[in-house]
Amino acid sequence: MPSLYIHIPFCKNKCRYCGFYSETIENYTEQYISAIFRDLDRSEYSQFETIYIGGGTPSVISEDNLEKLLKKISEINKITPLEFSFEANPESLTKGKIGILKDYGVSRISLGVQSLDDDVLKFLGRIHTSKDVFKVIEYINNCGIFQINCDLMYDIPRIEKDKVLSTLKELVKLPIHHVSAYNYSFDTDFMKEFKDVDQKTLFYEVKGVLEDSGFHQYEISNFAKSGFHSKHNMKYWKMEEYIGIGISAHSMLYDGKDRIRFANEGDILSFIKNEHSIVKETIALEDQIIEDIVFGLRMNEGVNIISLSDKYFYNMDNFLKNMYNLFQEGLLEIRGENLCLTNYGQLFLDYVQQYLWDLFYL
Ligand SMILES: C[S@@+](CC[C@H](N)C(=O)[O-])C[C@H]1O[C@@H](n2cnc3c(N)ncnc32)[C@H](O)[C@@H]1O
Ligand code: SF4
Repeated sequence: MPSLYIHIPFCKNKCRYCGFYSETIENYTEQYISAIFRDLDRSEYSQFETIYIGGGTPSVISEDNLEKLLKKISEINKITPLEFSFEANPESLTKGKIGILKDYGVSRISLGVQSLDDDVLKFLGRIHTSKDVFKVIEYINNCGIFQINCDLMYDIPRIEKDKVLSTLKELVKLPIHHVSAYNYSFDTDFMKEFKDVDQKTLFYEVKGVLEDSGFHQYEISNFAKSGFHSKHNMKYWKMEEYIGIGISAHSMLYDGKDRIRFANEGDILSFIKNEHSIVKETIALEDQIIEDIVFGLRMNEGVNIISLSDKYFYNMDNFLKNMYNLFQEGLLEIRGENLCLTNYGQLFLDYVQQYLWDLFYL
């Protein structure tokens, strides 16, 4: 059964570091939501295993629009999803909106926290303060039904190590269930001049604080208290089906043995007018195994090589032999039937992925 992703591309303000597609114009919200309904109605699916409303900033839309959107989803989806996540920013998630989310069965709120240091937040161009974060977490918990994730960033150039670690230490004391910790990526021009500066990463320190506080790493950037991993996101890393609705959303479905990806490209107006382009990519069966491996290595459990060779009728022996250098360098290991990154290898995910990709097509 596929999952459903809905993209809300509006933000109150554009953060200086963020390269994701979003616009600050909100006067198109109603038309955009009607266009989402148009695509939901066209979809042949009426059951979604998990649902994720992401952005942009879904919490910027008005209470009326939020209710309209959630009502429509509840009419289309004929089952209770295993997990229903909603992405929000601390300053725009009001008590009223939290109540609406609860009424329509949202089970998980992912909050964009980034830092609990007000100077860092200002430097990044965020419009919330640490106080907003504490307040909103209290509101959410008073509602009593939600799992909470907090997104944060580290390895931000010019931000001292102490500020990141004290944010983390404060964050793990809060009543939350999950942390997504992203190392800074240079997606915009903001601080591009620091890109090639050899900077020590805080990856192990971040991982250490989270693990010591009971948040177990299950994916390179994701940490959860026991049982609270994101079921929706796991489906992406396990190459399972999902439908993406909205501008810049992606879908992945299987057609017979082919894996098909669709990307909605264009801007908000083109999506509203139904004039956006849908870019389709077909991945034949023989090319799927390498995708499963490179995506799967993001997860701590890695990939089961016996299941993969059975599924794709592929003899892994030669491929594994040719990865010798990666084992030798301590980047990869075999645990039971699974091929996994080592703790050291997690620092070099991109390198390992590229190496395996090149090796597969050699
Ligand atoms: C695209 S945002 C959407 C959620 C929400 N609007 C927010 O601001 O948190 C999802 C997450 O991506 C991460 N992110 C965005 N730009 C990033 C960058 N340049 N480097 C690292 N993480 C980034 C942030 O942690 C952010 O919370
Ligand atoms: S980080 Fe979030 S709020 Fe900031 S611009 Fe990106 S999507 Fe919008």
